[in-house]
Amino acid sequence: MKEILQVKHVTKYYGTGSVVTKALNDISFSVGQGEFTAIMGASGSGKSTLLNVISTIDRVSSGEIFVEGIPLSGQKENRLSAFRRDKLGFIFQEYNLLDTLTVGENITLPLNLKKLDHQKTKRELHRVAEALGVLDQLSKFPYELSGGQRQRAACARALITSPALVLADEPTGALDSTNSRILMETFVRMNQTLGSTILTVTHDAVVGSYTGRVLFLKDGKIWSEVVRGERSRKAMYQEILSVMAALGGDTDVH
Ligand SMILES: Nc1ncnc2c1ncn2[C@@H]1O[C@H](COP(=O)(O)OP(=O)(O)OP(=O)(O)O)[C@@H](O)[C@H]1O
Ligand SMILES: [Mg+2]
Repeated sequence: MKEILQVKHVTKYYGTGSVVTKALNDISFSVGQGEFTAIMGASGSGKSTLLNVISTIDRVSSGEIFVEGIPLSGQKENRLSAFRRDKLGFIFQEYNLLDTLTVGENITLPLNLKKLDHQKTKRELHRVAEALGVLDQLSKFPYELSGGQRQRAACARALITSPALVLADEPTGALDSTNSRILMETFVRMNQTLGSTILTVTHDAVVGSYTGRVLFLKDGKIWSEVVRGERSRKAMYQEILSVMAALGGDTDVH
């Protein structure tokens, strides 16, 4: 399996002097092409920090991160913004759709920067909108959509450039449990039919149970790992709950 992401001995400190926080403490793991992985752990365990250093929003203090074999450190800011545009897709808790653009215009926004011709843009829009079940919503404005539809539109926007790696931070955070499940089933479809490689942060065991692997962080370290394998989603869910119970802290159990 081709490795899309390699995180090697990454440490991240915040602050200086006597108020230093070690947010990440010697983290190493890899994500292969087509893998769907979740990062879980208590509040403050380092989940968002990990996502931020992978997405180059923040820099590591030591260690190295490779995406498709290319090291992120030492690259100039203009190279990094090209890297974010070409290689990564982002999905956030809040959908971040622009209210003044239609759903279709929102989804194709990342392609504008690539200056694709109109026909190709239309084809790509159709491809992702169909995969995410928002084909009928394209001429509407975001406020005319339900929360779940908005989040699926945000996923379509993240996928339209066919990124090597999709990063999501609490993508179901603003959704009720029904829409959370619909979104996770969408992620599974994105993963299986579009072959997307997805790394998502979540505190929700249900969300984790849809993935193929969960990495548990504690105090900035990888504390445990659960791999789905041939298990049912329910069995994966039970396993996640038992690791969460052993992990302690203030991780929510739903
Ligand atoms: N910009 C920052 N400056 C200083 N400390 C920070 C900064 N960002 C995060 N931290 C600290 O680093 C640690 C890890 O924070 P992080 O945001 O990664 O946690 P998290 O696992 O995402 O938590 P949550 O589940 O609450 O979102 C915490 O102790 C936090 O206070
Ligand atoms: Mg966080």
